[in-house]
Amino acid sequence: MSSNRKVLMLPGDGIGPEVMSQTKLVINWFDKNKEVGFDVEEDLIGGASFDKYKTPITDNVLEKSLNADAVLFGAVGGPDYDKLPFKDKPERSLLKLRKELGLFANLRPAIVFDALSDASTLKTDIVKGLDMMILRELTGGIYFGEPRGIEELGDGKKRGINTEVYTTDEIRRVGEVGFELATKRKGIVHSVEKSNVMESGLLWREEIQKLYEEKYHHMQLHHMFADNCAMQLVRDPHQFDVIVTTNLFGDLLSDISAQLTGSLGMLPSASLGENNIDGIRKSLYEPVHGSAPDITGQGKANPIAMILSFAMMLKYSLDRNQDAELVEKAVDLVLQEGFRTEDIMQPGKKLVSTEKMGIEICNRLDRLI
Ligand code: IPM
Ligand code: MG
Repeated sequence: MSSNRKVLMLPGDGIGPEVMSQTKLVINWFDKNKEVGFDVEEDLIGGASFDKYKTPITDNVLEKSLNADAVLFGAVGGPDYDKLPFKDKPERSLLKLRKELGLFANLRPAIVFDALSDASTLKTDIVKGLDMMILRELTGGIYFGEPRGIEELGDGKKRGINTEVYTTDEIRRVGEVGFELATKRKGIVHSVEKSNVMESGLLWREEIQKLYEEKYHHMQLHHMFADNCAMQLVRDPHQFDVIVTTNLFGDLLSDISAQLTGSLGMLPSASLGENNIDGIRKSLYEPVHGSAPDITGQGKANPIAMILSFAMMLKYSLDRNQDAELVEKAVDLVLQEGFRTEDIMQPGKKLVSTEKMGIEICNRLDRLI
């Protein structure tokens, strides 16, 4: 067996541990059947970490994340933690990991599987065959800009402040990732901002345009305002291939694109840092769905988004495209054969639990090799 890769699993809260269990089955399958091996370690994050250590992320977990080849992240948060002070909230752990690992490029594919093309709330002919990618800048913009905070104004009144900041370097490095992704796809990039009202948006547009003229003029670049993009996504999503956008707009637009596909339970994501000298980059993979406290512990969660996040890890961290495709094919087969968790259930299909879905996907992997 070739040298093992270090994977840190952080299942987190809510349905995170349930979907992670099924992903472990898939990882074990690869351990057994393929030459790539994983050394998997597991630790606490989010509310689960707070319960034990009174912090959503310990220094130890941060250290382990920095040393791992890849982090697999479940979900964080839940009603038990809503009243905690801002710095202790489970979500802070995710934001800290993004920042400390330098994960500036967040890839959120929105793919409509053929078997599920009528699962969307949009008309089938609008979404059928959709395959697009939202590339969200993840370590800058209003999520991290200074100044920030809540100030006292006297008389019991206050002022809440956040600041949208982007520099040339921050815009160019995510822009590069966008153009490079599009090179392997349809070659169309939409750069999305609000340069009509925001200076940071104007700089965004200018830098992306420059990058395009310098290196990528053989491709198609369109500039679009974020509000128009939201509308275009539900009007005619097929016009998009890669959307590259800021942290906040990416947060909003990726929720819209998730809904186009009919189930949040199907969507994986990858967050990537800069390539270091060995060509290795820090990375974190997580399903787009959250901790879903309403269905936690009932065997209803769909493990596919988490399993497809693992497939993205194979592709983007381990350079194993064929293995990633194998996982995607196994998922496709399971759907074609009518297996459905509750979130994607349709008349006449077979309703299965989280666990059963994981097992069926492994069975299809067996069949495919
Ligand atoms: C996301 C989430 C996070 C974000 C939250 C949980 C901090 O909505 O990953 O899209 O706002 O980035
Ligand atoms: Mg979000």
